[in-house]
Amino acid sequence: MPQTNPSRSPHQQDESVDWPIGTEEFSDHVEFNSRDDNATIYAQASQGQTRPPTLFVVFGAQGDLTKRKLIPALYNLAASHHLPQEFAILGVDGVSMNTEDFRVKIRRDIQELSTYPIEATIKDWLLDRLYYLSGDFRDPQTYGHLQRMLSELDAQYGTSGNYLYYMATSPSFFGEIVHNLGAKGLVSQEKNRARRIVIEKPFGHDLSSAQALNSTLRSVLDEQQIYRIDHYLGKETVQNILVFRFANGIFEPVWNRQYIDHVQITVAETLGVEHRGTYYDKAGALRDMVPNHLLQILAFVAMEPPNAFDPEAVRNEKAKLLRAIQPMNPMEVLQSTVAGQYGSGTCHGTQVLPYRSEVNVSATSLRETYTAMTLSIESWRWEGVPFYLRTGKRLKQRVTEVVIQFKSAPLMLFRKTPVDRLTPNVLVIRIQPDEGISLSFGAKIPGPQVQVGSVNMDFQYADYFGDAPSTGYETLLHDVMAGDATLFQRSDNVELGWSVVDPILKVWDSLGSHAIHSYPAGTWGPPDADALLAKDGRMWRNYE
Ligand code: BG6
Repeated sequence: MPQTNPSRSPHQQDESVDWPIGTEEFSDHVEFNSRDDNATIYAQASQGQTRPPTLFVVFGAQGDLTKRKLIPALYNLAASHHLPQEFAILGVDGVSMNTEDFRVKIRRDIQELSTYPIEATIKDWLLDRLYYLSGDFRDPQTYGHLQRMLSELDAQYGTSGNYLYYMATSPSFFGEIVHNLGAKGLVSQEKNRARRIVIEKPFGHDLSSAQALNSTLRSVLDEQQIYRIDHYLGKETVQNILVFRFANGIFEPVWNRQYIDHVQITVAETLGVEHRGTYYDKAGALRDMVPNHLLQILAFVAMEPPNAFDPEAVRNEKAKLLRAIQPMNPMEVLQSTVAGQYGSGTCHGTQVLPYRSEVNVSATSLRETYTAMTLSIESWRWEGVPFYLRTGKRLKQRVTEVVIQFKSAPLMLFRKTPVDRLTPNVLVIRIQPDEGISLSFGAKIPGPQVQVGSVNMDFQYADYFGDAPSTGYETLLHDVMAGDATLFQRSDNVELGWSVVDPILKVWDSLGSHAIHSYPAGTWGPPDADALLAKDGRMWRNYE
């Protein structure tokens, strides 16, 4: 994690904020004024920022990820002075094009997709150091050309032999690209050169394919060179779960089975599968979202405090937590999981198609677009506390949040409001949208009788820190350049995620159509998901 926050507005550079995680200065005084002072920030932590020279190589330079996320994020990093002066970008792709035309294309893309108003000098600075190589990823000759271009650009821009390779390609190319880079000596780190590879999910489609991918990567690279991105960990609000838990003394003492009744993690989307039918109809909601995004959030919520904010300490704690999730036997899969698929319905007032009529989706598809489950964590801290997870497409509202429901007060003290009717304290960590945190508690309703009503203490990110419409990739790209892997998934974390999901996939596969419950688009999912909590006497926190 960076020491300054690169995803802040590039137009707020004068208010340099020191980012407390991952620094020795973690406990130093960093204080934010009230919202009325327009988020004036006093930071006493030292700067110590790292911007090592870097040659950024993108495989899949003509693709959507490069256009929509990487280039806008690099622009934001340049604008907020988080890129080194010794920096260049080399795009590699099969599409035949020269550097000049590539610059024209990227100039247009920046114009179209930047998350901030464009400043011409920054755009020109970036475009002046942008190059293109066309070549087939499977052809060894491409890597000969790449080797020549890299050494020329390295000399021209003083990037000290530090190459960062970003795999913005289909996963089917990962192995071949890495193998070819290895064969040309382009990933060797001698003489203190940093050679790093960034890969995007999916990291396999089940446990054994994830293990196979990891061993292919490790046949050429050291684990320390591999940065597996989960874009949820680039979200400020997800990172803030760690700050909230471990930079405040008051929450940790109640963060356990004695005080917490249960936890809900929801990642609800209103979008359907869009143009990704081919991928999604093979993957489904469980593979697409659970072993990665939902379990990463779960790990941040439930892991033990690491003894340092360094990559290995944090990832060791995550691994311990993931390993403590109780694996399900087939009977438990039947009792504790739900799979759903959206039919037709109305989303935000618009009639939408059923999943089976989406482009590139089979008309008889049995793929789930929704999943809910109850997970148990076997540990002293969490024994007996259910973790309810759900995610789905075409749901009623877009909301990603963590709900921590505390146990009710033990004593029936207020005659007019018996304890079994008092609303328990609920802490909601809203990851998106309306990023923030709220805590509900009981307060006396004014009047001669003692009656208790539920009220909220509310913190909204936007009120304190303004809107910083980042792409979510700024922090992650910055961290790879700085060599900080805290927010990236280590191979064991990935495999442990699949170990949780694999038994569920097996049972669902064997059940065929019996596994899938239909739900109308624009609702909160199949009724079976409500029944999952109802049998424990609980309810999902839904919004109208
Ligand atoms: C991706 C999934 O990883 O995350 C998509 O493949 C999903 O299916 C997306 O829509 C959700 O990300 P976000 O940032 O929009 O919540």
